[in-house]
Order: sequence, then structure tokens, then C-alpha cells
Amino acid sequence: MIPATAKQWRVQERPINRSFRETDLRLVEEPLKPVGANEVMLRACYFAFDPAQKGWMENAANYVAPINVGDVMRSRGIGRVVQSNSSKLKVGDLVRGDLFMADYFTLPMDGPTPANVEKVDTTVPLLTNLSILSNTGIAAYFGLMDVGRPTAGDTVVISGAAGATGSLAGQIAKINGCRVIGIAGGAAKCAWIAELGFDHAIDYTTGDIAKRLRDVCPNGINVFFDNVGGGILDIALAQIAPRARVVLCGGISRYSSTVTTGPLNYFNLIYNHGRMEGFLTRDYLPQWPEAKRRLSTWIKEGRIKSREDVQEGFENLPRTFMRLFEGKNIGKQILRVSDPELA
Ligand SMILES: NC(=O)c1ccc[n+]([C@@H]2O[C@H](COP(=O)([O-])OP(=O)(O)OC[C@H]3O[C@@H](n4cnc5c(N)ncnc54)[C@H](OP(=O)(O)O)[C@@H]3O)[C@@H](O)[C@H]2O)c1
Repeated sequence: MIPATAKQWRVQERPINRSFRETDLRLVEEPLKPVGANEVMLRACYFAFDPAQKGWMENAANYVAPINVGDVMRSRGIGRVVQSNSSKLKVGDLVRGDLFMADYFTLPMDGPTPANVEKVDTTVPLLTNLSILSNTGIAAYFGLMDVGRPTAGDTVVISGAAGATGSLAGQIAKINGCRVIGIAGGAAKCAWIAELGFDHAIDYTTGDIAKRLRDVCPNGINVFFDNVGGGILDIALAQIAPRARVVLCGGISRYSSTVTTGPLNYFNLIYNHGRMEGFLTRDYLPQWPEAKRRLSTWIKEGRIKSREDVQEGFENLPRTFMRLFEGKNIGKQILRVSDPELA
């Protein structure tokens, strides 16, 4: 039964120049808005988290609509259609896409800003719709293939390697015949990426990372796929091979610090004729369907695996988001808020 009120996580404070705090989001309960013309109402089932959502809360990201203090926070996720006034979706459809962080909410399916939602792919395990077949998989795919341009035999180094994006980028590099080294925090994460087929795993929480990287990359790094920035980017820049490609996917170290530092070793790009380039997944929108088809085939062939770290309960939403910045997640961080099987 649809409740009279909806629970919503609204932005309470912007986490600018500091770490995210759980109190930056506030739980409110409000009367549920009736479904208008060309709208659907969804019950949220899963929310998927990305460190970039902190940037959305700061209004630092220019690629998403601004989120103001007091607005309901947004997230990618999976929801069930419970009411529909749109010919595009019917009651019972399970959809993935851009949702509000509320237990029930309405979305426009037409007009100037129609919701970015589509039916889930039922030919793959449900949660891969939020990992491999989402923005995460798309970032790993185009970041590596188009910006990193690996060729067989290349040495590819990935930071944040046990995270959702890094673990996929590493597996795609292996499919391309590369030697792959992952940098991750802790023994459990390193053991998992070794299971995925990475050739070496470096635990950056112990010992001298620069020395260990040099030991396993005697001819230098051909492709550095960076999710972290800061000190790790500097260490990698110091060890690039001639004509190296440095892929700037993310910079999660920025999110916990009050100052953003530039790379100290960027001059090495000059000496080695290297290229350092950032990208956004939306740059590739026309090519998403083709990439999703390829990724979906690799899932079915067992050539790429994802791991989802699923927490439970709508009230645990800020706590679950925090796990990304505490390095607690292995694979894609997800929160289950209702049973997707319920009609
Ligand atoms: N360019 C694009 O279009 C695009 C698209 C999608 C994602 N991204 C970016 O890709 C990056 C990875 O996203 P994801 O969703 O896959 O997240 P994730 O890697 O699954 O989770 C975050 C991980 O970052 C590491 N971390 C947290 N704080 C850190 C710190 N201060 N220093 C170093 N590492 C830290 C932790 O792993 P350890 O324990 O191993 O440190 C944590 O588990 C993010 O920056 C995200 O915004 C970019």
C-alpha cells in the first residue's frame, strides 16, 4: 500500500573544504505528492553510491543539475513503479536510473527535463544494473579504452583498484592483454583484486608504495588509471614510461582534505611525451548502448565480475555513503531500502 507520507533525505549542509558528515543529510517526512500527468511514482529499492555525490552536494560538479541546501538528495538506483500516468512505464516495472533519495517519489516522464530512467536489464544479475551496467562500468570502459588506449603487453596501474570503477577497469585491461597492477587499501582488498586476475596488488596502507611500484613496473607505467589523485598520482607520475597515458577518472583523496594540491611530478609528462587527460562518462552518451552490450556480454561470458557491498535500511543512508570515504566498501557501495520483489 502506498503511504500518505514520504521519507526523504534532504541536504542540510554543503560539505565544502571538509569531509562529508552524516549530519549533512537530514531525514524529513512529508505528504507524498500525487502523481501528475505524464508522471510515475516509484518505490525505491536500491540506491547506489559514488564519491562524486559529495561534489554534487558541494555544487562543484558542472555536469549535474545543481542541488541546493534543502533539496532532496539524488542518487542512481533501482525502483519499482507503483503508480503510472505515463505510457512509457507501467505499474510493476522495475527501473534503473537517476532517483531521489526518498522511499517514494514521483518523476516526470515527459516535458523539458524527463527523468533519466529505463527498465532494468533482466538478462544479468539485478545489481549489475548498478555496477557494471551503470555509470561505473561506463567510466571504467571509456576511461580505459578511449583515454588510456591500452595495447597488449602494456603495464596498466590502477588506483582505488578494489573500488567499483577500479576493479572493472583492471579486468577490462586484462581482457586487452595488459599486465595490471592495482593499488588498494588493505589486505582483504588486495586479495580480492588478485582473485579478479590482477597481476600484482599493492597495499598502500603499508610500506613504501613508490619502491614496490618500481619493483613491479621495471619498464615504467604505460597507462595509469587514477581514481584517487593526491600523493598516489604523484608517485605514479614519477614512474611513467615514454608516451604514457594518465587517465583522470576521479580524485577521491580530495574529498577528505581541505586543500587540493596539484601534481608535483607533472614535468615528467614533458620528459616522457606523456598525456594526462580527464573525462566524464556523459562525453560518451551516444556510445553507451554499444558499451553496455559489450559489458553485458563479458558478464555473461564470466570475463568480468563485480562485487556489490549491500547495506540495509533507509535510515542507514548517510552512514552507507560515509563508507566510501572510510574505505570500508569492497566493490560497488549499495543500500537496499525495500524488497524489489514486492509488487
Ligand atoms: N569521470 C567520470 O565520469 C567518473 C564516473 C564514475 C566514477 N568516477 C570517479 O571514480 C572514482 C571511484 O568511484 P567509485 O564509485 O568506483 O568508488 P569506490 O572506488 O568504489 O569507493 C571509494 C574508494 O576510494 C578509496 N578512498 C577513500 N578515501 C580515500 C582517500 N582519502 N585516499 C585514497 N583513497 C581513498 C577507498 O578505497 P581504498 O581503501 O582502497 O583506499 C574507497 O573504498 C571516484 O572519484 C568517482 O567520482 C568518475
